[in-house]
Amino acid sequence: MKDKLIIFDTTLRDGEQSPGASMTRDEKVRIARALERMKVDVIEAGFPAASQGDFEAVQAVADAIKDSTVCGLARALDKDIDRAGEALKGAQSSRIHTFIATSPIHMQKKLNMQPDQVIEYAVRAVKRARQYTDNVEFSPEDAGRSEEDFLCRILEAVIDAGARTLNIPDTVGYSMPQQFGATIANLIQRIPNSDKAIFSVHCHNDLGLAVANSLSAVMNGARQVECTINGLGERAGNASLEEVVMAVRTRQDFFGCDTGLDAREIVTCSKLVSSITGFPVQPNKAIVGANAFAHESGIHQDGVLKNRETYEIMRAEDVGWSTNRMVLGKHSGRNAFKTRMAELGVQFAGEADLNDAFFRFKQLADKKHDIFDEDLQALISEQGFEAEDEHIKLVALKVCSETGEVPNATVTIRVDGKEMTGCAQGGGAVDASLKAIESLVKTGAILALYSVNNITNGTDAQGEVTVRLENAGRIVNGSGADTDIVIASAKAYINAVNKLQSVDQRQHPQKGDV
Ligand code: KIV
Ligand code: ZN
Repeated sequence: MKDKLIIFDTTLRDGEQSPGASMTRDEKVRIARALERMKVDVIEAGFPAASQGDFEAVQAVADAIKDSTVCGLARALDKDIDRAGEALKGAQSSRIHTFIATSPIHMQKKLNMQPDQVIEYAVRAVKRARQYTDNVEFSPEDAGRSEEDFLCRILEAVIDAGARTLNIPDTVGYSMPQQFGATIANLIQRIPNSDKAIFSVHCHNDLGLAVANSLSAVMNGARQVECTINGLGERAGNASLEEVVMAVRTRQDFFGCDTGLDAREIVTCSKLVSSITGFPVQPNKAIVGANAFAHESGIHQDGVLKNRETYEIMRAEDVGWSTNRMVLGKHSGRNAFKTRMAELGVQFAGEADLNDAFFRFKQLADKKHDIFDEDLQALISEQGFEAEDEHIKLVALKVCSETGEVPNATVTIRVDGKEMTGCAQGGGAVDASLKAIESLVKTGAILALYSVNNITNGTDAQGEVTVRLENAGRIVNGSGADTDIVIASAKAYINAVNKLQSVDQRQHPQKGDV
């Protein structure tokens, strides 16, 4: 019998700490449902003490999810733990994840605390969390740069206090695989009560080693990996869920464990996270990149046609690539639409929501013959954000672009019910359109990123545009989809401006006092 490797997904918490990746409550619930369908064991839904918005998001995820454990992050402070306990009240199965930094540099410079005091805080936090749930996880932040002797002391103490998962974070992505694996083996061997807890790892990707470090830890006894969809996360991100899961599954000859995940949901989940956060997936990304299973060279194609195993170590359909099938079209009725949406985990708040979505679907079907799941997801992303936060809306856009002439755009937007029109010239149709919008909304923000990706194949495919705006230290991503990429660009820009003006101000968990 193989051991179970627990998959702890932190897309909604650490993933959300990527600049510009903040998600609304409903977006978090949609991603959590997709993770639940994939049979993720633990979903870290957020940091409830960060803001009222994050508290409500964790609460909503806890209420919506039945099959996965829902977790909330808390610093080793009574107020954070109480907030997490409160947010998780509705969960069928809940976990509180509490942490405090243990590296010399963090204890001295960030916390200004002595090591014994840090142990006291950790023990107190775990005991308090146990008043809310038996399922308590403790992390010594920056363990990758902490002293092993000190880690042994603090981890032994928190197990005695009731922690049942010990998570070893390589917070700054400093560790090397062999060294990190050896640390895990040493901790398990040296801590006298280590058999009472599951060892977990949480690796950041600053040196591109997050997955390698996580797998090395698994080889040395870790039985939980913390990871994110598409490797999203603080700075260079976290270990990518899809890479960890498929490495362990593909190399069953090598690993003494396996996950319980339904890997066929991976691609859908990856696309959903990318479209909600506005973080595109690079084409050559393992497992979920558009080229991950594409064979360009003639020699490879010849080999794959004769026997796919000559060049393929996994089957595209096993991670969900073949589910990109045409589901609906112009003649599909309301019932077929509602049923497919339910299969994708989308539940409408009421008849009005369903009618609105169906109207948009019909508009899209008039422009595009085949409607794929990805088109439906994009449609819902747009509708969801508009319903919640969009006080600026695109009403009309006219663009003139011809050879030898300077492109110009005229745009009409509605701001809190009031229509306004602006014009601008630009280097191209997109540039002119965004300048016309900016002339009306006057954010003064810097456009830090602009990218276009096709949602499905074909020249009638919808283009999904992502823009990133930076203003006074705030960073937001906006996205928009349309069969016309100039309109998609205008929608994305307006989406970002709405977020810039409405983003819930959150406290960063790792920048606080403790
Ligand atoms: O990277 C880190 O150390 C974290 C902790 C809060 C687990 O995200
Ligand atoms: Zn982290």
